[in-house]
Amino acid sequence: MASVLITGANRGLGLEFARQYLAKGWRIFAACREPAAAKALQALAAQSDGKLTVHALEVTDDQAIAALAGDLAKEPIDVLINNAGVNRAEANELGLGNAQAWLDVFAANVVAPVHVATAFLPHVAKGDRRVIATISSRLGSIAENQGGSYAYRASKAAVNAAMRSLSQDARAKGTTVVVLHPGWVRTDMGGAAAPLTPSESIAQLVALIDRIGPRDNGSFLSFDGKPIPW
Ligand SMILES: NC(=O)c1ccc[n+]([C@@H]2O[C@H](COP(=O)([O-])OP(=O)(O)OC[C@H]3O[C@@H](n4cnc5c(N)ncnc54)[C@H](OP(=O)(O)O)[C@@H]3O)[C@@H](O)[C@H]2O)c1
Repeated sequence: MASVLITGANRGLGLEFARQYLAKGWRIFAACREPAAAKALQALAAQSDGKLTVHALEVTDDQAIAALAGDLAKEPIDVLINNAGVNRAEANELGLGNAQAWLDVFAANVVAPVHVATAFLPHVAKGDRRVIATISSRLGSIAENQGGSYAYRASKAAVNAAMRSLSQDARAKGTTVVVLHPGWVRTDMGGAAAPLTPSESIAQLVALIDRIGPRDNGSFLSFDGKPIPW
């Protein structure tokens, strides 16, 4: 049975990834900060016949990452989805006094996915698919940058660069590392004006991840499979 580890699986795109992989019959390790408060995810777990388990993971806490990696040490993980992320309005404007907000965005959007990927490389190496997908954003494209969203754009450009490094370093282990843009999606982060529903975005991302193989290593792809300029 194919397996997937999803971070930030309690709401938004992460919850929809969990739903759609469950519908495909996959084994899902669904990670979130507060399992007891993750009602929708727990409801999915309850109807999953043991296929979906919920695991505590604050992605900015290295000890928590190491603990979960230890708990799952015997589990091959076919696909790791680094989905958890934040956007902070106060760090998206020019101005002083918002350094902590910048650092919070970088902790969650850059350092955390790199550390999660690092801790789970051995699990992914044991899987059949061997894919590490980080949910980035088109806003991280330097080529397409039209200004604004300072910390968010910078964090996604930074995680793109880090994952590009990892794609080169993990190639020898047969692991494929990609960064993916989900589209502009109606979640708490995307807001009500976004054109895509989570179901539409994730259906395309799941189909894309199914097609991803070693030839895609190190690429930055949109949900429709088209490459995005760095
Ligand atoms: N929605 C869009 O239009 C859009 C577009 C481009 C890229 N993205 C990216 O897609 C990903 C998911 O976004 P979304 O729209 O689903 O956002 P969302 O609705 O705001 O959900 C964010 C998820 O990340 C989790 N999270 C945040 N910080 C965390 C931490 N330190 N530890 C563990 N979990 C953490 C949240 O958990 P809590 O509930 O505990 O806060 C929540 O599950 C993000 O990486 C985002 O940047 C979204």
